[in-house]
Amino acid sequence: MIPQDFIHLLLDRVDIVEVIERYVPLKKKGANYQACCPFHNEKSPSFTVSPTKQFYHCFGCGAHGTAISFMMEHAGLDFPEAVKDLAARVGMNVPDDGQGRKPEDGRRDALNTAMEQASRHYIELLKGSEKAIAYLKSRGLTGETAARFALGYAPDEWQGLAKAVENYQDAALEEAGLVIAGEGKRYDRFRDRVMFPIRNERGRVIAFGGRVLGQGEPKYLNSPETPLFHKGRELYGLHENRRGIQNAGYALVVEGYMDVVMLAQHGVDNALATLGTAVTPDHVAKIFRLVDRVIFAFDGDAAGRKAAWRGLENALPQLPDGKQVSFLFLPEGEDPDSYVRDKGEAAFRDLCRHAMPLSDYLFETLRAQTDMSSQEGRVRLLKLMEPYLAQMRHAPLLARTMRARLGDLTGIAAPSVRRDPRSAPRPVMRREVMASPYRVVIQALLARPERAHELPERRLVHGNEAAALESLAAYIKEHPEMTQTRRIVDAFKGRDGYELIETAFAESMLLGSDAETEARTEADFQGACATLMEQWMRAERERLVGLPLSQLTGEEKRLLVEGPRYKKLDQVGKVKT
Ligand code: UTP
Ligand code: MN
Repeated sequence: MIPQDFIHLLLDRVDIVEVIERYVPLKKKGANYQACCPFHNEKSPSFTVSPTKQFYHCFGCGAHGTAISFMMEHAGLDFPEAVKDLAARVGMNVPDDGQGRKPEDGRRDALNTAMEQASRHYIELLKGSEKAIAYLKSRGLTGETAARFALGYAPDEWQGLAKAVENYQDAALEEAGLVIAGEGKRYDRFRDRVMFPIRNERGRVIAFGGRVLGQGEPKYLNSPETPLFHKGRELYGLHENRRGIQNAGYALVVEGYMDVVMLAQHGVDNALATLGTAVTPDHVAKIFRLVDRVIFAFDGDAAGRKAAWRGLENALPQLPDGKQVSFLFLPEGEDPDSYVRDKGEAAFRDLCRHAMPLSDYLFETLRAQTDMSSQEGRVRLLKLMEPYLAQMRHAPLLARTMRARLGDLTGIAAPSVRRDPRSAPRPVMRREVMASPYRVVIQALLARPERAHELPERRLVHGNEAAALESLAAYIKEHPEMTQTRRIVDAFKGRDGYELIETAFAESMLLGSDAETEARTEADFQGACATLMEQWMRAERERLVGLPLSQLTGEEKRLLVEGPRYKKLDQVGKVKT
Protein backbone atom coordinates (compact mmCIF):
# COMPACT_ATOMS: atom_id res chain seq x y z
CA MET A 1 0.00 0.00 0.00
CA ILE A 2 1.24 3.44 -0.86
CA PRO A 3 0.45 5.74 2.05
CA GLN A 4 -2.33 8.24 1.42
CA ASP A 5 -0.12 11.08 2.64
CA PHE A 6 2.36 10.35 -0.07
CA ILE A 7 -0.35 10.45 -2.70
CA HIS A 8 -1.38 13.87 -1.46
CA LEU A 9 2.17 15.17 -1.50
CA LEU A 10 2.64 13.79 -4.96
CA LEU A 11 -0.55 15.35 -6.30
CA ASP A 12 0.53 18.66 -4.80
CA ARG A 13 3.90 18.41 -6.47
CA VAL A 14 2.93 17.35 -10.00
CA ASP A 15 1.21 19.72 -12.34
CA ILE A 16 -1.68 18.04 -14.06
CA VAL A 17 -1.41 20.39 -17.03
CA GLU A 18 2.16 19.28 -17.64
CA VAL A 19 1.27 15.64 -17.22
CA ILE A 20 -1.61 15.73 -19.66
CA GLU A 21 0.15 17.98 -22.14
CA ARG A 22 2.61 15.20 -22.92
CA TYR A 23 -0.22 13.18 -24.38
CA VAL A 24 -2.80 15.71 -25.44
CA PRO A 25 -2.18 19.18 -26.88
CA LEU A 26 -3.91 21.61 -24.53
CA LYS A 27 -5.12 25.10 -25.31
CA LYS A 28 -5.54 27.76 -22.68
CA LYS A 29 -9.12 28.93 -22.32
CA GLY A 30 -9.76 31.34 -19.48
CA ALA A 31 -8.50 29.86 -16.26
CA ASN A 32 -8.57 26.34 -17.69
CA TYR A 33 -7.09 24.35 -20.52
CA GLN A 34 -9.04 22.57 -23.20
CA ALA A 35 -8.59 19.84 -25.78
CA CYS A 36 -10.52 17.31 -27.76
CA CYS A 37 -11.14 14.51 -25.32
CA PRO A 38 -8.63 11.66 -25.51
CA PHE A 39 -11.19 9.28 -24.05
CA HIS A 40 -13.80 9.55 -26.71
CA ASN A 41 -14.11 10.65 -30.29
CA GLU A 42 -15.14 14.26 -30.72
CA LYS A 43 -14.74 17.21 -33.02
CA SER A 44 -15.07 20.15 -30.66
CA PRO A 45 -13.12 20.22 -27.41
CA SER A 46 -15.00 19.37 -24.25
CA PHE A 47 -12.06 18.02 -22.30
CA THR A 48 -11.12 20.57 -19.65
CA VAL A 49 -8.13 20.66 -17.33
CA SER A 50 -8.17 22.91 -14.31
CA PRO A 51 -4.76 23.93 -12.96
CA THR A 52 -6.28 25.34 -9.78
CA LYS A 53 -8.28 22.23 -8.99
CA GLN A 54 -5.62 19.92 -10.46
CA PHE A 55 -8.41 17.99 -12.04
CA TYR A 56 -9.62 17.11 -15.50
CA HIS A 57 -13.15 16.64 -16.69
CA CYS A 58 -14.71 15.88 -20.03
CA PHE A 59 -18.15 17.35 -20.49
CA GLY A 60 -18.75 15.03 -23.39
CA CYS A 61 -18.06 11.63 -21.93
CA GLY A 62 -17.81 12.38 -18.25
CA ALA A 63 -14.23 11.14 -17.86
CA HIS A 64 -12.61 12.94 -14.98
CA GLY A 65 -9.98 12.67 -12.31
CA THR A 66 -6.54 13.58 -11.09
CA ALA A 67 -3.11 13.26 -12.68
CA ILE A 68 -2.99 9.73 -11.29
CA SER A 69 -6.27 8.68 -12.83
CA PHE A 70 -5.21 10.23 -16.11
CA MET A 71 -2.11 8.07 -16.20
CA MET A 72 -4.22 5.04 -15.37
CA GLU A 73 -6.95 5.70 -17.91
CA HIS A 74 -4.93 7.17 -20.70
CA ALA A 75 -1.51 5.59 -20.42
CA GLY A 76 -3.01 2.34 -19.22
CA LEU A 77 -0.96 2.06 -16.05
CA ASP A 78 -2.26 0.52 -12.88
CA PHE A 79 -2.37 2.56 -9.70
CA PRO A 80 1.11 1.81 -8.32
CA GLU A 81 2.62 2.23 -11.76
CA ALA A 82 0.92 5.58 -12.26
CA VAL A 83 2.15 6.79 -8.88
CA LYS A 84 5.66 5.58 -9.61
CA ASP A 85 5.68 7.25 -13.01
CA LEU A 86 4.51 10.61 -11.69
CA ALA A 87 6.82 10.44 -8.68
CA ALA A 88 9.78 9.83 -10.95
CA ARG A 89 8.91 12.95 -12.95
CA VAL A 90 9.02 15.19 -9.92
CA GLY A 91 11.95 13.40 -8.32
CA MET A 92 10.11 11.77 -5.46
CA ASN A 93 10.69 8.25 -4.21
CA VAL A 94 7.64 6.15 -3.60
CA PRO A 95 8.02 5.15 0.04
CA ASP A 96 8.17 1.56 1.01
CA ASP A 97 5.89 1.34 3.98
CA GLY A 98 7.47 -1.86 5.20
CA GLN A 99 5.11 -4.02 3.26
CA GLY A 100 6.79 -3.15 0.02
CA ARG A 101 4.96 -4.52 -2.93
CA LYS A 102 1.71 -6.16 -2.10
CA PRO A 103 1.92 -9.92 -2.28
CA GLU A 104 -0.76 -9.71 -4.98
CA ASP A 105 1.57 -7.67 -7.18
CA GLY A 106 4.09 -10.48 -7.34
CA ARG A 107 1.36 -12.96 -7.98
CA ARG A 108 -0.13 -10.90 -10.78
CA ASP A 109 3.27 -10.58 -12.38
CA ALA A 110 3.64 -14.35 -12.24
CA LEU A 111 0.22 -14.81 -13.81
CA ASN A 112 0.98 -12.25 -16.48
CA THR A 113 4.20 -13.98 -17.34
CA ALA A 114 2.49 -17.35 -17.53
CA MET A 115 -0.17 -15.98 -19.86
CA GLU A 116 2.38 -14.31 -22.12
CA GLN A 117 4.48 -17.46 -22.33
CA ALA A 118 1.45 -19.56 -23.11
CA SER A 119 0.28 -17.12 -25.76
CA ARG A 120 3.63 -17.07 -27.54
CA HIS A 121 3.74 -20.83 -27.37
CA TYR A 122 0.27 -21.21 -28.89
CA ILE A 123 1.11 -18.76 -31.68
CA GLU A 124 4.22 -20.77 -32.55
CA LEU A 125 2.32 -24.02 -32.56
CA LEU A 126 -0.36 -22.67 -34.86
CA LYS A 127 2.31 -22.00 -37.47
CA GLY A 128 3.25 -25.67 -37.39
CA SER A 129 -0.20 -27.20 -37.17
CA GLU A 130 -1.57 -28.15 -40.56
CA LYS A 131 -4.85 -29.22 -39.08
CA ALA A 132 -5.46 -25.95 -37.19
CA ILE A 133 -4.44 -23.90 -40.20
CA ALA A 134 -6.77 -25.94 -42.38
CA TYR A 135 -9.59 -25.34 -39.94
CA LEU A 136 -9.09 -21.58 -39.89
CA LYS A 137 -8.79 -21.53 -43.66
CA SER A 138 -12.02 -23.44 -43.97
CA ARG A 139 -13.60 -20.62 -42.03
CA GLY A 140 -12.17 -18.09 -44.45
CA LEU A 141 -9.61 -16.63 -42.12
CA THR A 142 -6.36 -15.22 -43.54
CA GLY A 143 -2.95 -15.57 -41.93
CA GLU A 144 -2.82 -11.83 -41.59
CA THR A 145 -5.98 -11.75 -39.51
CA ALA A 146 -4.76 -14.63 -37.38
CA ALA A 147 -1.59 -12.67 -36.67
CA ARG A 148 -3.49 -9.49 -35.92
CA PHE A 149 -5.52 -11.27 -33.27
CA ALA A 150 -2.56 -13.35 -32.11
CA LEU A 151 -4.50 -16.56 -32.67
CA GLY A 152 -2.77 -19.73 -31.65
CA TYR A 153 -3.18 -23.44 -31.32
CA ALA A 154 -3.08 -25.57 -28.17
CA PRO A 155 -1.85 -29.04 -29.14
CA ASP A 156 -3.58 -32.29 -28.41
CA GLU A 157 -1.29 -33.06 -25.48
CA TRP A 158 -1.93 -33.34 -21.77
CA GLN A 159 1.11 -31.34 -20.75
CA GLY A 160 1.92 -29.35 -23.87
CA LEU A 161 2.62 -26.24 -21.85
CA ALA A 162 5.51 -27.92 -20.10
CA LYS A 163 7.57 -26.99 -23.15
CA ALA A 164 6.66 -23.34 -22.83
CA VAL A 165 7.32 -22.66 -19.17
CA GLU A 166 10.24 -23.12 -16.83
CA ASN A 167 8.37 -25.02 -14.19
CA TYR A 168 5.19 -26.88 -15.04
CA GLN A 169 4.56 -27.40 -11.30
CA ASP A 170 4.36 -23.65 -10.70
CA ALA A 171 1.11 -22.78 -8.92
CA ALA A 172 0.81 -19.67 -11.08
CA LEU A 173 -0.14 -21.85 -14.04
CA GLU A 174 -3.10 -23.17 -12.12
CA GLU A 175 -4.10 -19.78 -10.83
CA ALA A 176 -3.93 -18.36 -14.32
CA GLY A 177 -6.33 -21.07 -15.41
CA LEU A 178 -3.88 -22.64 -17.81
CA VAL A 179 -3.36 -25.86 -15.91
CA ILE A 180 -5.84 -28.01 -14.07
CA ALA A 181 -4.60 -29.89 -11.03
CA GLY A 182 -6.43 -32.76 -9.44
CA GLU A 183 -5.57 -35.93 -7.56
CA GLY A 184 -1.87 -35.71 -8.14
CA LYS A 185 -2.26 -35.06 -11.84
CA ARG A 186 -1.63 -31.83 -13.67
CA TYR A 187 -2.73 -31.21 -17.19
CA ASP A 188 -3.35 -28.38 -19.66
CA ARG A 189 -6.81 -26.86 -19.64
CA PHE A 190 -6.68 -26.12 -23.35
CA ARG A 191 -5.99 -29.05 -25.62
CA ASP A 192 -6.48 -29.34 -29.33
CA ARG A 193 -8.13 -25.97 -29.67
CA VAL A 194 -7.69 -22.80 -31.66
CA MET A 195 -6.73 -20.21 -29.11
CA PHE A 196 -8.09 -16.67 -28.99
CA PRO A 197 -6.09 -14.61 -26.51
CA ILE A 198 -8.16 -12.03 -24.68
CA ARG A 199 -6.06 -8.94 -24.21
CA ASN A 200 -6.84 -6.04 -21.95
CA GLU A 201 -6.64 -2.43 -23.07
CA ARG A 202 -2.93 -2.44 -22.52
CA GLY A 203 -2.46 -5.42 -24.77
CA ARG A 204 -1.65 -7.90 -22.02
CA VAL A 205 -3.05 -11.38 -22.35
CA ILE A 206 -5.42 -11.92 -19.45
CA ALA A 207 -7.41 -14.93 -20.62
CA PHE A 208 -8.04 -17.28 -23.51
CA GLY A 209 -10.97 -18.63 -25.40
CA GLY A 210 -10.28 -21.94 -27.11
CA ARG A 211 -12.42 -23.33 -29.91
CA VAL A 212 -12.63 -26.96 -30.90
CA LEU A 213 -11.67 -27.65 -34.46
CA GLY A 214 -14.98 -28.54 -35.96
CA GLN A 215 -17.58 -30.27 -33.79
CA GLY A 216 -17.25 -30.92 -30.08
CA GLU A 217 -18.32 -29.84 -26.65
CA PRO A 218 -17.88 -27.32 -25.32
CA LYS A 219 -17.50 -25.40 -28.53
CA TYR A 220 -15.58 -22.68 -26.72
CA LEU A 221 -13.65 -23.25 -23.57
CA ASN A 222 -12.83 -20.06 -21.72
CA SER A 223 -10.37 -19.19 -18.98
CA PRO A 224 -11.98 -19.23 -15.56
CA GLU A 225 -12.25 -16.04 -13.51
CA THR A 226 -8.75 -15.28 -12.24
CA PRO A 227 -7.13 -12.30 -10.55
CA LEU A 228 -6.37 -11.08 -14.07
CA PHE A 229 -9.71 -11.81 -15.66
CA HIS A 230 -13.27 -10.89 -14.77
CA LYS A 231 -15.40 -11.69 -17.73
CA GLY A 232 -18.22 -9.36 -16.75
CA ARG A 233 -15.83 -6.47 -17.27
CA GLU A 234 -13.75 -7.48 -20.25
CA LEU A 235 -14.56 -7.22 -23.90
CA TYR A 236 -12.87 -9.22 -26.61
CA GLY A 237 -11.28 -6.99 -29.22
CA LEU A 238 -10.82 -3.89 -27.12
CA HIS A 239 -7.08 -3.90 -27.61
CA GLU A 240 -7.14 -4.83 -31.29
CA ASN A 241 -10.04 -2.57 -32.31
CA ARG A 242 -9.60 0.40 -30.03
CA ARG A 243 -8.38 2.65 -32.82
CA GLY A 244 -11.04 1.36 -35.21
CA ILE A 245 -13.75 2.15 -32.70
CA GLN A 246 -12.52 5.67 -32.20
CA ASN A 247 -12.30 6.24 -35.93
CA ALA A 248 -15.75 4.85 -36.61
CA GLY A 249 -17.21 6.82 -33.73
CA TYR A 250 -19.09 3.83 -32.47
CA ALA A 251 -18.53 0.37 -31.10
CA LEU A 252 -20.33 -2.64 -32.41
CA VAL A 253 -21.00 -5.23 -29.74
CA VAL A 254 -21.32 -8.78 -31.02
CA GLU A 255 -21.67 -12.16 -29.40
CA GLY A 256 -18.67 -14.16 -30.55
CA TYR A 257 -14.93 -14.20 -30.99
CA MET A 258 -15.23 -15.18 -34.63
CA ASP A 259 -17.61 -12.31 -35.26
CA VAL A 260 -15.02 -9.78 -34.10
CA VAL A 261 -12.24 -11.43 -36.05
CA MET A 262 -14.17 -11.90 -39.29
CA LEU A 263 -15.64 -8.41 -39.24
CA ALA A 264 -12.14 -6.99 -38.82
CA GLN A 265 -10.93 -9.04 -41.76
CA HIS A 266 -13.69 -7.47 -43.83
CA GLY A 267 -12.77 -3.96 -42.79
CA VAL A 268 -15.29 -3.60 -39.99
CA ASP A 269 -12.70 -3.09 -37.28
CA ASN A 270 -14.85 -1.59 -34.55
CA ALA A 271 -16.43 -4.69 -33.04
CA LEU A 272 -16.17 -6.03 -29.52
CA ALA A 273 -17.54 -9.24 -28.08
CA THR A 274 -18.80 -10.03 -24.63
CA LEU A 275 -17.27 -13.23 -23.41
CA GLY A 276 -20.13 -15.65 -23.33
CA THR A 277 -22.03 -13.40 -20.90
CA ALA A 278 -24.80 -10.89 -21.23
CA VAL A 279 -23.84 -7.26 -21.68
CA THR A 280 -23.19 -5.88 -18.20
CA PRO A 281 -23.42 -2.29 -16.98
CA ASP A 282 -19.62 -2.40 -16.61
CA HIS A 283 -19.30 -3.23 -20.29
CA VAL A 284 -21.52 -0.33 -21.26
CA ALA A 285 -19.66 2.08 -19.02
CA LYS A 286 -16.36 0.93 -20.47
CA ILE A 287 -17.52 1.46 -24.03
CA PHE A 288 -18.94 4.89 -23.29
CA ARG A 289 -15.55 5.99 -22.04
CA LEU A 290 -14.30 5.37 -25.54
CA VAL A 291 -17.13 6.52 -27.82
CA ASP A 292 -20.60 8.03 -27.77
CA ARG A 293 -22.40 5.37 -29.74
CA VAL A 294 -22.81 1.68 -29.44
CA ILE A 295 -24.68 -0.74 -31.62
CA PHE A 296 -25.54 -4.11 -30.19
CA ALA A 297 -25.62 -6.71 -32.92
CA PHE A 298 -27.39 -9.87 -31.96
CA ASP A 299 -27.93 -13.13 -33.71
CA GLY A 300 -31.35 -13.51 -35.25
CA ASP A 301 -32.48 -16.29 -32.93
CA ALA A 302 -34.38 -16.48 -29.68
CA ALA A 303 -31.17 -16.44 -27.66
CA GLY A 304 -30.05 -13.34 -29.54
CA ARG A 305 -33.29 -11.52 -28.81
CA LYS A 306 -33.05 -12.43 -25.16
CA ALA A 307 -29.47 -11.18 -25.05
CA ALA A 308 -30.55 -7.94 -26.72
CA TRP A 309 -33.18 -7.30 -24.08
CA ARG A 310 -30.67 -7.94 -21.32
CA GLY A 311 -28.39 -5.50 -23.08
CA LEU A 312 -31.12 -2.89 -23.11
CA GLU A 313 -31.81 -3.36 -19.42
CA ASN A 314 -28.17 -3.04 -18.52
CA ALA A 315 -27.56 -0.09 -20.81
CA LEU A 316 -30.46 2.06 -19.60
CA PRO A 317 -29.00 3.11 -16.25
CA GLN A 318 -25.65 3.81 -17.92
CA LEU A 319 -27.02 5.87 -20.76
CA PRO A 320 -26.41 9.60 -20.54
CA ASP A 321 -28.20 12.10 -22.75
CA GLY A 322 -26.15 12.65 -25.86
CA LYS A 323 -24.99 9.05 -26.15
CA GLN A 324 -26.71 6.51 -28.31
CA VAL A 325 -27.49 2.86 -28.03
CA SER A 326 -29.03 0.99 -30.94
CA PHE A 327 -29.87 -2.57 -31.77
CA LEU A 328 -29.32 -4.56 -34.87
CA PHE A 329 -30.86 -7.95 -35.49
CA LEU A 330 -29.37 -10.28 -38.00
CA PRO A 331 -31.60 -12.46 -40.13
CA GLU A 332 -32.62 -15.72 -38.51
CA GLY A 333 -29.77 -18.19 -38.47
CA GLU A 334 -27.05 -15.66 -39.24
CA ASP A 335 -24.36 -14.14 -37.08
CA PRO A 336 -22.09 -11.23 -38.01
CA ASP A 337 -19.39 -13.66 -39.08
CA SER A 338 -21.58 -15.57 -41.50
CA TYR A 339 -23.31 -12.43 -42.70
CA VAL A 340 -20.23 -10.44 -43.55
CA ARG A 341 -18.64 -13.44 -45.19
CA ASP A 342 -21.73 -14.05 -47.27
CA LYS A 343 -22.90 -10.58 -48.11
CA GLY A 344 -19.80 -8.48 -47.66
CA GLU A 345 -18.80 -5.34 -45.87
CA ALA A 346 -21.19 -2.94 -47.60
CA ALA A 347 -24.25 -5.02 -46.77
CA PHE A 348 -23.15 -5.31 -43.18
CA ARG A 349 -22.58 -1.58 -42.88
CA ASP A 350 -26.03 -1.08 -44.29
CA LEU A 351 -27.45 -3.15 -41.46
CA CYS A 352 -25.59 -0.95 -39.01
CA ARG A 353 -27.02 2.18 -40.56
CA HIS A 354 -30.49 0.82 -40.01
CA ALA A 355 -29.95 -0.26 -36.45
CA MET A 356 -32.94 0.46 -34.25
CA PRO A 357 -32.52 3.18 -31.63
CA LEU A 358 -32.97 1.99 -28.07
CA SER A 359 -36.14 4.04 -27.60
CA ASP A 360 -37.79 2.46 -30.65
CA TYR A 361 -36.75 -0.98 -29.55
CA LEU A 362 -38.21 -0.40 -26.11
CA PHE A 363 -41.49 0.95 -27.49
CA GLU A 364 -41.90 -1.73 -30.09
CA THR A 365 -41.19 -4.56 -27.70
CA LEU A 366 -43.56 -3.35 -25.01
CA ARG A 367 -46.25 -2.42 -27.52
CA ALA A 368 -46.19 -5.92 -28.85
CA GLN A 369 -47.10 -7.09 -25.37
CA THR A 370 -50.20 -4.95 -25.08
CA ASP A 371 -53.48 -4.53 -26.87
CA MET A 372 -53.31 -0.93 -27.97
CA SER A 373 -56.89 -0.92 -29.19
CA SER A 374 -58.32 -0.93 -25.67
CA GLN A 375 -57.93 1.66 -22.97
CA GLU A 376 -56.83 -1.05 -20.57
CA GLY A 377 -54.11 -2.04 -22.96
CA ARG A 378 -52.89 1.51 -23.29
CA VAL A 379 -52.78 1.88 -19.53
CA ARG A 380 -50.85 -1.35 -19.40
CA LEU A 381 -48.28 0.09 -21.78
CA LEU A 382 -47.86 3.05 -19.44
CA LYS A 383 -47.33 0.67 -16.56
CA LEU A 384 -44.87 -1.45 -18.46
CA MET A 385 -42.87 1.54 -19.59
CA GLU A 386 -42.61 3.26 -16.25
CA PRO A 387 -39.83 1.17 -14.65
CA TYR A 388 -37.67 1.54 -17.74
CA LEU A 389 -38.09 5.29 -17.86
CA ALA A 390 -37.35 5.49 -14.17
CA GLN A 391 -34.01 3.84 -14.81
CA MET A 392 -32.90 6.53 -17.20
CA ARG A 393 -31.43 8.61 -14.46
CA HIS A 394 -28.65 9.94 -16.62
CA ALA A 395 -30.76 10.63 -19.68
CA PRO A 396 -33.53 12.94 -18.46
CA LEU A 397 -34.00 14.57 -21.84
CA LEU A 398 -34.40 11.33 -23.72
CA ALA A 399 -36.72 10.09 -20.99
CA ARG A 400 -38.77 13.24 -21.39
CA THR A 401 -39.22 12.82 -25.12
CA MET A 402 -40.13 9.21 -24.55
CA ARG A 403 -42.78 10.24 -22.06
CA ALA A 404 -44.18 12.62 -24.62
CA ARG A 405 -44.32 9.83 -27.14
CA LEU A 406 -45.97 7.61 -24.59
CA GLY A 407 -48.54 10.34 -24.07
CA ASP A 408 -49.26 10.48 -27.81
CA LEU A 409 -49.56 6.74 -28.05
CA THR A 410 -51.78 6.19 -25.06
CA GLY A 411 -53.84 9.34 -25.31
CA ILE A 412 -52.95 10.00 -21.71
CA ALA A 413 -51.47 13.47 -21.68
CA ALA A 414 -47.81 13.42 -20.95
CA PRO A 415 -47.90 15.76 -17.92
CA SER A 416 -50.21 13.41 -16.08
CA VAL A 417 -47.69 10.65 -16.42
CA ARG A 418 -46.27 10.57 -12.95
CA ARG A 419 -42.65 11.46 -12.85
CA ASP A 420 -40.56 9.16 -10.84
CA PRO A 421 -38.64 11.40 -8.46
CA ARG A 422 -35.60 9.18 -8.94
CA SER A 423 -35.48 10.09 -12.58
CA ALA A 424 -35.24 13.79 -11.82
CA PRO A 425 -32.70 15.35 -14.12
CA ARG A 426 -29.20 15.32 -12.80
CA PRO A 427 -28.00 18.82 -12.34
CA VAL A 428 -25.17 19.18 -14.73
CA MET A 429 -22.91 22.11 -15.17
CA ARG A 430 -25.37 24.83 -15.83
CA ARG A 431 -27.32 26.65 -13.19
CA GLU A 432 -30.55 26.71 -15.16
CA VAL A 433 -30.71 22.98 -14.72
CA MET A 434 -32.80 22.00 -11.77
CA ALA A 435 -30.87 20.70 -8.83
CA SER A 436 -32.01 18.99 -5.68
CA PRO A 437 -31.26 20.94 -2.51
CA TYR A 438 -28.96 18.15 -1.38
CA ARG A 439 -26.86 18.46 -4.48
CA VAL A 440 -26.78 22.21 -4.24
CA VAL A 441 -25.57 21.94 -0.67
CA ILE A 442 -22.98 19.32 -1.58
CA GLN A 443 -21.65 21.57 -4.33
CA ALA A 444 -21.51 24.48 -1.94
CA LEU A 445 -19.64 22.42 0.66
CA LEU A 446 -17.15 21.36 -1.95
CA ALA A 447 -16.61 25.00 -2.87
CA ARG A 448 -16.12 25.98 0.77
CA PRO A 449 -16.05 23.12 3.29
CA GLU A 450 -16.55 25.44 6.31
CA ARG A 451 -20.16 25.71 5.21
CA ALA A 452 -20.70 22.40 6.94
CA HIS A 453 -21.10 24.39 10.13
CA GLU A 454 -23.85 26.52 8.65
CA LEU A 455 -26.19 23.72 7.73
CA PRO A 456 -29.61 23.66 9.39
CA GLU A 457 -29.38 21.37 12.36
CA ARG A 458 -32.43 19.38 11.46
CA ARG A 459 -32.54 17.70 8.12
CA LEU A 460 -34.41 14.84 6.62
CA VAL A 461 -32.15 12.02 5.65
CA HIS A 462 -33.90 10.25 2.89
CA GLY A 463 -32.30 8.89 -0.25
CA ASN A 464 -28.76 8.64 -1.58
CA GLU A 465 -28.13 12.31 -2.00
CA ALA A 466 -29.19 13.06 1.53
CA ALA A 467 -27.00 10.26 2.84
CA ALA A 468 -24.04 11.51 0.84
CA LEU A 469 -24.55 14.98 2.22
CA GLU A 470 -24.72 13.66 5.77
CA SER A 471 -21.49 11.75 5.48
CA LEU A 472 -19.72 14.63 3.73
CA ALA A 473 -20.80 17.12 6.38
CA ALA A 474 -19.79 14.76 9.17
CA TYR A 475 -16.42 14.16 7.58
CA ILE A 476 -15.69 17.85 7.20
CA LYS A 477 -16.60 18.49 10.81
CA GLU A 478 -14.41 15.65 12.02
CA HIS A 479 -11.48 16.84 9.95
CA PRO A 480 -11.11 20.58 10.28
CA GLU A 481 -7.53 20.25 9.07
CA MET A 482 -8.76 19.22 5.62
CA THR A 483 -9.28 22.44 3.78
CA GLN A 484 -8.55 21.30 0.25
CA THR A 485 -11.58 19.94 -1.44
CA ARG A 486 -9.64 17.50 -3.57
CA ARG A 487 -8.23 15.87 -0.46
CA ILE A 488 -11.63 15.59 1.10
CA VAL A 489 -12.96 13.96 -2.03
CA ASP A 490 -9.96 11.60 -2.11
CA ALA A 491 -10.40 10.70 1.51
CA PHE A 492 -13.96 9.82 0.69
CA LYS A 493 -13.03 7.02 -1.62
CA GLY A 494 -14.76 3.86 -0.56
CA ARG A 495 -17.27 5.59 1.67
CA ASP A 496 -20.97 5.69 0.99
CA GLY A 497 -21.84 8.43 -1.42
CA TYR A 498 -18.35 8.66 -2.88
CA GLU A 499 -19.52 8.50 -6.47
CA LEU A 500 -22.05 11.20 -5.99
CA ILE A 501 -19.60 13.47 -4.28
CA GLU A 502 -16.91 12.83 -6.80
CA THR A 503 -19.31 13.63 -9.63
CA ALA A 504 -20.40 16.81 -7.90
CA PHE A 505 -16.75 17.76 -7.57
CA ALA A 506 -16.16 17.08 -11.24
CA GLU A 507 -19.19 19.16 -12.13
CA SER A 508 -17.96 22.02 -10.03
CA MET A 509 -15.15 22.34 -12.58
CA LEU A 510 -17.30 24.36 -14.88
CA LEU A 511 -18.18 26.87 -12.26
CA GLY A 512 -15.60 29.59 -12.30
CA SER A 513 -14.16 31.00 -9.12
CA ASP A 514 -15.04 34.62 -9.77
CA ALA A 515 -16.92 36.76 -7.28
CA GLU A 516 -20.19 36.51 -9.16
CA THR A 517 -20.15 32.72 -9.14
CA GLU A 518 -19.29 32.69 -5.50
CA ALA A 519 -22.15 34.99 -4.66
CA ARG A 520 -24.48 32.75 -6.62
CA THR A 521 -23.21 29.63 -4.90
CA GLU A 522 -23.82 31.29 -1.57
CA ALA A 523 -27.35 32.33 -2.51
CA ASP A 524 -28.12 28.85 -3.79
CA PHE A 525 -26.69 27.37 -0.64
CA GLN A 526 -28.86 29.55 1.58
CA GLY A 527 -31.89 28.76 -0.51
CA ALA A 528 -31.22 25.05 -0.41
CA CYS A 529 -30.73 25.15 3.36
CA ALA A 530 -34.11 26.84 3.68
CA THR A 531 -35.65 24.14 1.54
CA LEU A 532 -34.10 21.42 3.66
CA MET A 533 -35.42 23.07 6.76
CA GLU A 534 -38.86 23.39 5.23
CA GLN A 535 -38.85 19.73 4.24
CA TRP A 536 -37.99 18.75 7.76
CA MET A 537 -40.67 20.97 9.23
CA ARG A 538 -43.28 19.60 6.93
CA ALA A 539 -42.42 16.01 7.81
CA GLU A 540 -42.26 16.89 11.48
CA ARG A 541 -45.69 18.54 11.43
CA GLU A 542 -47.14 15.53 9.72
CA ARG A 543 -45.78 13.36 12.47
CA LEU A 544 -47.04 15.67 15.22
CA VAL A 545 -50.53 15.91 13.81
CA GLY A 546 -50.91 12.22 14.46
CA LEU A 547 -50.02 12.52 18.15
CA PRO A 548 -52.25 13.54 21.08
CA LEU A 549 -51.58 17.16 22.02
CA SER A 550 -50.89 16.16 25.60
CA GLN A 551 -47.78 14.32 24.53
CA LEU A 552 -46.19 17.25 22.75
CA THR A 553 -43.53 19.52 24.17
CA GLY A 554 -44.02 23.26 24.12
CA GLU A 555 -41.76 23.62 21.14
CA GLU A 556 -43.60 20.93 19.25
CA LYS A 557 -46.94 22.57 19.92
CA ARG A 558 -45.61 25.86 18.65
CA LEU A 559 -44.35 24.20 15.53
CA LEU A 560 -47.72 22.64 14.98
CA VAL A 561 -49.68 25.80 15.57
CA GLU A 562 -47.46 28.49 14.15
CA GLY A 563 -45.87 26.56 11.39
CA PRO A 564 -42.24 26.70 10.52
CA ARG A 565 -40.30 29.80 11.35
CA TYR A 566 -37.60 30.35 8.86
CA LYS A 567 -36.66 32.79 6.19
CA LYS A 568 -38.91 32.74 3.20
CA LEU A 569 -37.34 31.18 0.17
CA ASP A 570 -37.61 34.24 -2.02
CA GLN A 571 -35.81 36.32 0.57
CA VAL A 572 -32.64 34.32 0.37
CA GLY A 573 -32.29 33.65 -3.28
CA LYS A 574 -33.92 31.27 -5.56
CA VAL A 575 -33.49 27.59 -5.62
CA LYS A 576 -35.46 25.21 -7.69
CA THR A 577 -36.25 21.79 -6.47
P1 UTP B 1 -22.06 -19.12 -30.54
O1 UTP B 1 -22.52 -20.46 -30.14
O2 UTP B 1 -23.01 -18.16 -31.17
O3 UTP B 1 -20.81 -19.37 -31.40
O4 UTP B 1 -21.43 -18.45 -29.25
P2 UTP B 1 -20.11 -18.48 -32.52
O5 UTP B 1 -19.54 -17.26 -31.92
O6 UTP B 1 -20.96 -18.33 -33.70
O7 UTP B 1 -18.88 -19.43 -32.82
P3 UTP B 1 -18.47 -20.10 -34.17
O8 UTP B 1 -18.75 -19.13 -35.26
O9 UTP B 1 -19.25 -21.36 -34.28
O10 UTP B 1 -17.01 -20.38 -33.97
C1 UTP B 1 -21.20 -17.08 -29.11
C2 UTP B 1 -20.16 -16.84 -28.07
O11 UTP B 1 -20.55 -17.43 -26.84
C3 UTP B 1 -19.44 -17.94 -26.15
C4 UTP B 1 -18.25 -17.57 -26.99
O12 UTP B 1 -17.74 -16.33 -26.54
C5 UTP B 1 -18.83 -17.48 -28.37
O13 UTP B 1 -18.01 -16.73 -29.23
N1 UTP B 1 -19.50 -19.41 -26.00
C6 UTP B 1 -20.22 -20.18 -26.86
C7 UTP B 1 -18.80 -19.99 -25.01
O14 UTP B 1 -18.15 -19.31 -24.21
N2 UTP B 1 -18.83 -21.36 -24.88
C8 UTP B 1 -19.51 -22.14 -25.74
O15 UTP B 1 -19.46 -23.36 -25.59
C9 UTP B 1 -20.23 -21.54 -26.75
MN1 MN C 1 -20.51 -18.10 -35.70
